[in-house]
Amino acid sequence: MAETKESGALARVPVYIMGKRYMVPPSLTIQKAFEFAGYQLIRGCGCRGGICGACATVFRFPNSHKIEVGLACQTVVQPDMHLAQIPFYPAHRRAYDLAKEDPSPDVLGRIYPEIYRCVACGACTKACPMEIQVMDYIAAAIRGDVAKVAELSFDCVMCGLCASRCMAEIGQYHVAILARRLYASKIAPRAEHLGKRLKEIESGKYDKGLDELVKVDEAGLKKLYTALEQEPEMAGEDWMPKEKNNL
Ligand code: FES
Repeated sequence: MAETKESGALARVPVYIMGKRYMVPPSLTIQKAFEFAGYQLIRGCGCRGGICGACATVFRFPNSHKIEVGLACQTVVQPDMHLAQIPFYPAHRRAYDLAKEDPSPDVLGRIYPEIYRCVACGACTKACPMEIQVMDYIAAAIRGDVAKVAELSFDCVMCGLCASRCMAEIGQYHVAILARRLYASKIAPRAEHLGKRLKEIESGKYDKGLDELVKVDEAGLKKLYTALEQEPEMAGEDWMPKEKNNL
């Protein structure tokens, strides 16, 4: 039975980090609980915002057969969690030259032939802290549907938990990022405004402004920053600042 010492701000719940028991505040994320317990996170910690995928964590509750997963920076502790972080999980990442590859139906299976070993058990999907339908995108990869793999895996943070649970030893997240790279470089429509902006940069349009900016001291930079016109919270799509020199 979980114990809670005191109440309110002093409340503490037991968690087990790498098998050792600590009493931590119940409002902490797993990541902050590690730090509260005295761990210094050098690996297994990056953005602290649920984006980088560095903080993959597995945990289990007493008397439960189930291995549960989460991102340590996003998951709040619960009493009696038995925790271990998996900052890196070894999975095969093939070398390829993206410029020479096309989003053809055979490309994912040729570079990652192990996808054909998938037995559709769904362990990868259950292990995904981002709730991505991993098994479904591997099925799309087997069908050769690069665009579908890119779409279904869009939220992947490359934490590797899918690969850690795969009985077919597939590195799903490496397959998915190859699909997203192929999609972005060979299928998605070109962003014309980006090409236009790059040409403007190359033509030196912003050089004068940048040269002036690097000469400004810290106090001057703060003043310029606070004087910046802020986009209103409910601005429409067509909102433009009054100062348009740097657009
Ligand atoms: S630290 Fe980046 S996702 Fe948790």
